[in-house]
Amino acid sequence: MIPVVAIDGPSGSGKGAVGFAVARRLGWHYLDSGAVYRALGFAALRAGIDPDSEGAVAELAKTLNLQFVEDLSGGMRVLVNKEDCGLALRSEQVAAAASRVAAHPAARAALLERQRAARCAPGLIADGRDMGTVVFPDAALKIFLTASAEVRAARRYRQLKETGFGGTLPQLLAEIQERDERDSRRAVAPLKAAGDAVVLDSSTLTLTEVIEQVLALVHSRVGVVPSV
Ligand code: DC
Repeated sequence: MIPVVAIDGPSGSGKGAVGFAVARRLGWHYLDSGAVYRALGFAALRAGIDPDSEGAVAELAKTLNLQFVEDLSGGMRVLVNKEDCGLALRSEQVAAAASRVAAHPAARAALLERQRAARCAPGLIADGRDMGTVVFPDAALKIFLTASAEVRAARRYRQLKETGFGGTLPQLLAEIQERDERDSRRAVAPLKAAGDAVVLDSSTLTLTEVIEQVLALVHSRVGVVPSV
């Protein structure tokens, strides 16, 4: 069986940066499942579909033409119905739409096989909310990466400033808390640590420290060491 390392946790916990870097070091594939939901949210906004309308969103999810293309700098471009989402995929507007479309069981079901198809040799780092609980319950290692809402809002603030998007710190904190609440309370695949997950709090750790801790866990639990 191709090994999977699931990294779940709330927005801003550093899952994306950690997952991407760990995948690179191991020479494994990387699934950013948040980008899949963001792409669906983006497509709904583009098509004028209400993100709260389960039937219309599920139909959209079934027919969504989604491509992940690695660019020359090693980053990932996300194409939705052939359109490059660019930085819009990371905007707060798309994040809010993603959180709403992700609350519909039928939309989640429509995206399940797409995510499982990312399991390719030699291994997969899968990051999201339900990687260890629903999509890859047989993951060789499950990590729940978290950080306080204040630390996550401050990280997001710095990130948005770098990419030129606006927003104040209190506003971002309120949005993060609102999304946490919606992601944790939804009936299907809520944001929660799998019973067998290792919980890592990154509030007082640097990115490099978290990456090293995850690699150490991969070594001890999965028996795989970095190739670079
Ligand atoms: O990780 P992110 O911020 O890019 O995720 C965007 C939204 O997608 C988030 O509000 C919750 C949802 N999501 C989900 O429901 N399940 C996943 N596996 C990943 C993301």
